[in-house]
Amino acid sequence: MSGPDLRQAAAARAVALVQDGMRLGLGTGSTANVFVTLLGARVRDGLDVVGVPTSEATRVAAEREGIRLATLEELPELDLTIDGADEIDPEMRLIKGGGGALLREKIVAHASRRMVVIADAAKRVGTLGAFPLPIEVNAFGLGATRRGVEAALAACGCSGELALRKAGDGAPFTTDGGHFILDARLGRIPDPEALCAALWAVPGVVEHGLFLGLATGAILAEARDGEAALS
Ligand code: A5P
Repeated sequence: MSGPDLRQAAAARAVALVQDGMRLGLGTGSTANVFVTLLGARVRDGLDVVGVPTSEATRVAAEREGIRLATLEELPELDLTIDGADEIDPEMRLIKGGGGALLREKIVAHASRRMVVIADAAKRVGTLGAFPLPIEVNAFGLGATRRGVEAALAACGCSGELALRKAGDGAPFTTDGGHFILDARLGRIPDPEALCAALWAVPGVVEHGLFLGLATGAILAEARDGEAALS
């Protein structure tokens, strides 16, 4: 027997936060995708919003739903971004980028007055790092950048394997921006702020999946007595 649809429950609560006239950031991933579908239904019922998608996949999904879209050139400030996460800690620090959209996700979240995370409550962790940390890097100089990233990780007390993300055909996965991703399997990240600063000091690092101080709220869904409970 299947349990309640946790993504659906979290996304439905998030859609209720959306008001007429809002400028929205539209996240990426399976949970954000449910949000886009539910938002589309409200748009067809007359809700007037405009969205900035965080990936080409979300752009396609939102267009299919008939959601009006804009760019950050047209709308440099957004009211609310709704996005998923791969991990969330008690201070609402996140790991994101499992779907490879971390760069646009972070730009859009930073441009938003509020960012609300929607996720299965299983994404809640005490310490970030069990989920591999995505580090987006320029394809040029990959070997040198990789050495720099390894040194930054070691300086922050993080040890673990660094893997170049591959696409289904075995070639390196490329992001919407044409970059590569190194996934750092760290187990735990003792000091996310220090790691954030250390990664930024490595030339060739375009972005990383630590989202610190960006989420302003979270809607987490878990199964309780056969129902989806939100917290
Ligand atoms: C996309 O790059 C990611 O940041 C996703 O938001 C994250 O991986 C969560 O995805 P799911 O909702 O599919 O778990």
